Amino acid sequence: MSEVVFAPSILSADFGRLIEEVETVDEVAGSIHVDVMDGHFVPNITIGPLVSNSLKKSGRVNTPLSIHLMIDDPWKYGPEFDVGSEDMILFHSEVTERPYELIKRLKAQGCKVGISQKPASPVEDIFPLLEELDEVLVMGVEPGFGGQEFMTESIERIKVLEKQIRENDSDTVISVDGGMSPETVGSVVQAGADKIVAGSAIFGKEDRIKAVRDMQNALS
Ligand code: DX5
Ligand code: ZN
Repeated sequence: MSEVVFAPSILSADFGRLIEEVETVDEVAGSIHVDVMDGHFVPNITIGPLVSNSLKKSGRVNTPLSIHLMIDDPWKYGPEFDVGSEDMILFHSEVTERPYELIKRLKAQGCKVGISQKPASPVEDIFPLLEELDEVLVMGVEPGFGGQEFMTESIERIKVLEKQIRENDSDTVISVDGGMSPETVGSVVQAGADKIVAGSAIFGKEDRIKAVRDMQNALS
């Protein structure tokens, strides 16, 4: 198994000192997870392109951004994010009837593209899209808030996806978002996850490097 990547989610960071917060995880992060919420698709509001683009423009963030769009209109707002070839934009399958076109549109920005789903959406819906996707983000919680308990039903979704990806000989990454901690990472990696998104388990801790190491150690 190749090394599991950790993506700290800034949802649990102190937004008043966001760049400093991101700098505390730069050395252990495979990507920085940016949760964009519009108060419609999920019952919470966070940040949008202005803040994400400021992070990029600062020149102080060396890690690629993974922009998780929990919004009704990724067609309108997706193109407003400044992204490079290592950054990724992820949208939710529930918000569009034309996922191929949206993937194409977002890829035209020169970034990677991924898809996510709410826990109740049929995972099979994204099988036909796998070829086009760099990542599938499996939610371990109902999207909207950090610090929720991991839904163990997600493990089955990861297994089904992993099988499909393997059978298609595809290199789509499976990441898991929500409820990740040293107690839960083992089960999702065992099921086939390549990447762990964690907010409260990293930014909720004083020592962020140790927080990531604790999750890595739980896997060894
Ligand atoms: C939830 C977000 C997550 C969130 C996870 O809707 O998409 O990225 O930050 O938070 P934790 O890791 O605290 O469950
Ligand atoms: Zn997220």
